[in-house]
Parts: sequence; structure tokens; C-alpha cells
Amino acid sequence: MDLNNFCHELPKVELHAHLNGSLSRSTMLHLKRYYADSGLEDKTNAFFDEFQIGAGDCRNLSDCFQVFSIAHSLTSTPEALAMATTLTLQEFHSDGCCYIELRSTPRNTQYMTKEQYVDTIVHCMQKSSLHLSMLSRFIISINRSYPVAEAEAIAELAIASYKKYPDVVVGLELSGEPTIGKFQDFVPALTRAREAGLKITLHCGEVCNPEEIIEMLKFKPDRIGHGTCIHPRFGGTNDTWSALCASKIPVEVCLTSNVNTKSTPDYDSHHFKDLYEAGVPVIICTDDKGVFTTSLSNEYRICAETFNLDQSRVARLSLDACQHIFADVQKTVVNKVQSFIDKYNI
Ligand code: IMP
Ligand code: ZN
Repeated sequence: MDLNNFCHELPKVELHAHLNGSLSRSTMLHLKRYYADSGLEDKTNAFFDEFQIGAGDCRNLSDCFQVFSIAHSLTSTPEALAMATTLTLQEFHSDGCCYIELRSTPRNTQYMTKEQYVDTIVHCMQKSSLHLSMLSRFIISINRSYPVAEAEAIAELAIASYKKYPDVVVGLELSGEPTIGKFQDFVPALTRAREAGLKITLHCGEVCNPEEIIEMLKFKPDRIGHGTCIHPRFGGTNDTWSALCASKIPVEVCLTSNVNTKSTPDYDSHHFKDLYEAGVPVIICTDDKGVFTTSLSNEYRICAETFNLDQSRVARLSLDACQHIFADVQKTVVNKVQSFIDKYNI
């Protein structure tokens, strides 16, 4: 099997994907048609060129946060949100994903409350499990650029949703523009969620901020996202790097996202190599497959080609990722990946 096919066929787990950043061109066209057919105004004219951030794009990480409003204007009703969720789950499934933790920030819109937002995504996940051979779970997001009171409300909603849908809602995460908001302000909300049983993942070290990285690692999240500026090569310090290595907290690595936002100069110098060699668990993820025009199998292929990993090592990446999923279905997911490995004697 050539590398492209191999990365596609390999059962994979996606643990870091933001719903509104994952909308493909085709999904956005479906949504636009729905808005037009329903007589709703979608408030966006310019589209894909603005939404998608490619390799040569002059926008950086901070500019990226503007583009999500384009997706948000297309997911403002329960029907549109359901369509976006269902189509996105189908795309991950078609790409060979066997387990996904999709994340999203509940929003009050003109047409729905935050509670309805959560209910809509949960119901789509429940329905999709009836016809897709992919398990899906929901991580609720807190946007750090919103007021702390909003984060507190989202944490309460996450706790209530976890009690209502313990088979679907698995975690709470902190994301959003990393230069806005102080991590310490979110600790009480995150702690309450953790005490209620939710798993926690934090966007950590997206920008150079060693004090915050140390605070986040001390909090002992179940996983972190990106971890770009933790190694001293990328603006981290010896302390941040050794704290991560000692903690062995798994890192959700998003290669193309980091390269396209210029958080990392290029694939060759990506911190995947440092993490991998140091034995820090890494999980290959997409982040925003719509914005960065990628897919999970493409991220596996890029990783294999850039770091010269043979098929056995690539398969091992997927197998190891199963250990860090938030739902209590590790065995089922491991079996799927292991059966593939056994079938092809990798
Ligand atoms: P949503 O939560 O489904 O609306 O997905 C879009 C949101 O995810 C954005 O508004 C950000 O808050 C968050 N997000 C997406 N990509 C990134 C990233 O690279 N860093 C931090 N936050 C992100
Ligand atoms: Zn992210």
C-alpha cells in the first residue's frame, strides 16, 4: 500500500478538532444553500478565500481568529448546526477516523440558546453512531477571550450536559485567542468541571508565555493542545520543557495548523520531533481541517514524510493515541487499530 492509501486506511483517532473550524468547502456550500432556501440571511459574502488559510497565506495566528465568524454565521440555527455537525462527522468517518472527540463553543444566537446548541450536537452524535462505524464524543469549549463569567456559565453547562449525556459529553477545553485572558482566572471553572468528572484539555503554549505554560502544566490537564512554545527552540525555557517531559502530559499536535499560522516556520522544524524523541505522548490531530484545508490522513502522511516514519511507526502513533481518549472505550478503539495492524502484518 502506498503512503497515501495507508494513511487513509489506517483507523485513526481525532482528539483535537473544532467544529466551526472543520467545515469543508462542500459543507459550507450546503449551509449557504440552506440559509438561502430558508430565507435566512447568512451575513457573509466573501467565503472560501477568506475562510481558508493556506501555506502561503500572509495571515498569522492572531488573524486566524477573525475567520471563525464566517463559519459562525452559517451555524446559527439548530438545523444548520445539525447539518454542519453531521456532514463534518461523515467527512472524518470517510477519512478513516474510527473515534472522534469534536469540540465546540456553545453560543446563544438569535435562533437558539447555548443549551440547545449542546443538545443539537449531542443528538447528531447519537444519530451518527447508528449508521457510522465511528464513535463520536463531545468536548465543550471555553473561549478565553470571553469574560470569565461566560466561562463560568459554560463550565456549569458542561457539568449539566455531562450529567444529562454521560455517554457523549466527555470533556471541557480552553481555547481562543491565546494572547487574551489569564489562565488563572479560568482555574475555578475548570476545577469544578474536573471535580464533576469531566476531562480537561488546554490549548497550551501557542504563543510564548512561559509563566502561563508552567501554571497550566501544574494544573495537570489530561491533555494539552499544540505545545508549540514549550521547547527552548521555540521560545520556551528549560523549565517549561523539563516540566512537560516530567509530566508526560499527552500533546495534541496539529502540524498544518502550526505551519499555516506561522507558529512554526516549517514542517521540518516542527516540535513533533522534540516531543517524539523525548517520549512525550503525541497525538496527530487536524485542529481546523476546513480553515487549513487538510484532513487527518493528510496530517499522518505529512508526519510520516517529514520525520521519515515507516508504516509500523505511523500505525503505532494511532495505536498510542487510543490510550489518551476521554471516553471509556479505549479497548474498543484499540481493537480497531490493532486489527488493521494484524491484518496487514505491520
Ligand atoms: P467552535 O468552538 O466550534 O466555534 O470553533 C471555532 C473556535 O475554536 C474559535 O472561535 C476559537 O475559539 C477556537 N479555535 C479554533 N482554532 C484554534 C486555535 O488554533 N487556537 C485557539 N483556539 C482555536
Ligand atoms: Zn485548537
